[in-house]
Amino acid sequence: MSDRTETAGSKTDGLVDRIMRRLGTRFSEPGRGNPRGSGVDSSTPTAPPASPDELYRQDWDALARADALTAILSLEPGAPTNEAAFDAAGRGDADRLRRFVSAESVVLSVGCGIGRVEKHLARHCRRLCAIDVSDEMIARARQWTAGVSNVEFFRTSATDLSLFPDDTFDFAYSLLVLQHLEYEDAFLALREIARVLKPGAPALVQFPKLTSPVYAAAFAQQATSRDRSSARMRFYTRDLAEQILSLAGLTIVEIALRAHGAEDPNELELVVRRAAERGKPGGQVASPPGAATPESGPESTGRYE
Ligand SMILES: C[S@@+](CC[C@H](N)C(=O)[O-])C[C@H]1O[C@@H](n2cnc3c(N)ncnc32)[C@H](O)[C@@H]1O
Repeated sequence: MSDRTETAGSKTDGLVDRIMRRLGTRFSEPGRGNPRGSGVDSSTPTAPPASPDELYRQDWDALARADALTAILSLEPGAPTNEAAFDAAGRGDADRLRRFVSAESVVLSVGCGIGRVEKHLARHCRRLCAIDVSDEMIARARQWTAGVSNVEFFRTSATDLSLFPDDTFDFAYSLLVLQHLEYEDAFLALREIARVLKPGAPALVQFPKLTSPVYAAAFAQQATSRDRSSARMRFYTRDLAEQILSLAGLTIVEIALRAHGAEDPNELELVVRRAAERGKPGGQVASPPGAATPESGPESTGRYE
């Protein structure tokens, strides 16, 4: 359809098309397609750029090989994470998630790492499916959760959960993962989570809050160091998190602020739910006493451990 024949309803589509065409021209310059490309035009033929998911895999495989526990959870700045503290943190997170599961629940963990949380949560649900982009993480997860019979691990990217049919899970969660994805990939991951959740089912996700002092400083430091690895942190404002969740088809029902490795609350933790019917907004889930909802005002605070 030409711009001139646009109806009122298609006006936004036409505008988006025009913007994308402009950006497409700019980003099709030689070297711009590769996230690690130099932007320098080279007439020498090179291997096709690795896909974003392949870059995540490579980076996280390398991190897992170096020190998986510290790559997943850095408890003391600059110091390696010890097993006991790592395990205790996993138990603590599993305890917080227990209110969403029952003995009948089929649960999805997105970006499970070495099974820190799954080791403790699996016994409270019927079946726990855990995905991660890294073969090295998955191999360690099988060892870490040895003896836990109802957890299954799958290697795939959060952006592609096509191994699971629509409407499969009673609950999904993703801790310390979306912050390591490009914003667009976080959106794709959340859209996949929405697709595989059963109608009306909840999910819990978390984002590092850019406006917290510790993450504002981390953002500036990361920018200055020119760290552009695929595994680097991405920071969120509350507005950005809310918008991406909404675009992905998830409705926010609870927002909490938690402190993670900092004095001040620096993590946005959100309970969301998939709409009861596709294409319709999700309804409210019961909030625990004291928890804030978007309607009830400011975020609640608590410790994230
Ligand atoms: C900081 S760790 C958190 C692990 C786990 N959620 C936990 O809390 O213990 C981040 C994990 O996300 C995984 N990851 C990174 N990018 C991913 C992607 N695109 N799809 C799935 N998993 C990904 C990494 O391999 C790593 O295991």
